[in-house]
Amino acid sequence: MSNVIVRTANNLMDWVNQRAPALTPMYRKHMTEYYAPKNFNIWYIFGVLSIVVLVNQIVTGIFLTMHFKPSAAEAFASVEYIMRDVEWGWLIRYMHSTGASLFFIVVYIHMFRGMMYGSYQKPRELVWILGMLIYLALMAEAFMGYVLPWGQMSFWGAKVIISLFGAIPVIGNGLTEWIMGDYLPSDATLNRFFALHVIAVPLVLLLLVVLHLGALHEVGSNNPDGVEIKKGPKGNRWSPTAPADGVPFHPYYTVKDSFYVGCLLVVAAFIIFFAPAFGGWFLEHDNFSEANRLVTPEHIKPVWYYTPYYAMLRVVPNKLGGVLVMFGAIAILFLVPWLDRAKVKSYRYRGLLSKLLLALFAISFVWLGKIGAGPGTDIVETYIGRGLTVFYFLFFITMPLWTMWDKTKPVPERVTTHD
Ligand code: HEM
Repeated sequence: MSNVIVRTANNLMDWVNQRAPALTPMYRKHMTEYYAPKNFNIWYIFGVLSIVVLVNQIVTGIFLTMHFKPSAAEAFASVEYIMRDVEWGWLIRYMHSTGASLFFIVVYIHMFRGMMYGSYQKPRELVWILGMLIYLALMAEAFMGYVLPWGQMSFWGAKVIISLFGAIPVIGNGLTEWIMGDYLPSDATLNRFFALHVIAVPLVLLLLVVLHLGALHEVGSNNPDGVEIKKGPKGNRWSPTAPADGVPFHPYYTVKDSFYVGCLLVVAAFIIFFAPAFGGWFLEHDNFSEANRLVTPEHIKPVWYYTPYYAMLRVVPNKLGGVLVMFGAIAILFLVPWLDRAKVKSYRYRGLLSKLLLALFAISFVWLGKIGAGPGTDIVETYIGRGLTVFYFLFFITMPLWTMWDKTKPVPERVTTHD
């Protein structure tokens, strides 16, 4: 029986290969003959986990779209209908809403890993830039998705964020009106956000992810030691020309990654079944009431993944200044590959100053997130927020200096786990 299955599978493969001869070489290039450094640690699983969450968002999104009504009059009720009457609708919706937050958790960790191991340095600048474009697309995608259930926070969040464009001189007001299609978030806004959320931005995201991985596979992965395995000795048990410190991505890392995908699913299941709103962090309490343009929620704040930038916006007293600081904080991340002048990639071989500053950067980003999630009325917190914002920018602006000055340790010739 098994012989028959193997023979049929081989015949099928032959049939496909004759008609599409480029497929097998492509599979080999990206899977069985993609030699990834053998010293990957747990920080290296988050790229694959991002793909898993992306697939989850697309699949659950398709099912939600089957029952969701993209109109201001019906959207809120259609979500309630999904939650109460559609078979397994509650599960699909919570998988999608939890997936959104998990997406940002894994992507933030993935970005931080890149900063720790200098993965953006030459020759991976393009991988980083494409990653940053993914990050922008992801923020736009999540923002528009949050408007769709047409709850109080959907409406007021959209109003506050879109009105920010009003701060731009001359064209500001016209631009705000053009984005909303009205003077307030309305049916027209919901309609266009639906179109962008379900098809336009996901297409862009998918394309960017393909380019991101394509760019990475051209140059090969970095690793926790920041050693270029392609420049090291050649020859391993699979190929005489492959890097000695590389192992085939499939099956070695596919198996390892599957274990962590299992862990992610357990965590996700726990949240979905026991705490889908996650204390108001993943689904805000105000969004369980329908949008009402006559009642402003007590604290209008975005979901947690935007709050570091929202804090920066709020602590700057001038509206245009706040908007510039907020967008500047994201824009400056694009420049990291050129701001970092260190001769070594990985922080393992960098000096104490670099390690300390990176740790402080991570702490200040989280702290800003906490400030942005608060009511914004505490004056002490406002001053702390200003200090942290200044530190955020100084970290990047002075990066060329401290990365050049800081002492580095000698980098080993080969990854540290070779035998
Ligand atoms: C949908 C979102 C994303 C997906 C699906 C994704 C996927 C991946 C995958 C599968 C890898 C290879 C495995 C790994 O190194 O973890 C990778 C590597 C990388 N990603 Fe992403 N990524 C995403 C977003 C980002 C973002 C937002 C950035 C940074 C701005 C980024 C920067 C990088 C870098 C620098 C590498 C190379 C890491 C190295 O070789 O050390 N990625 N990405």
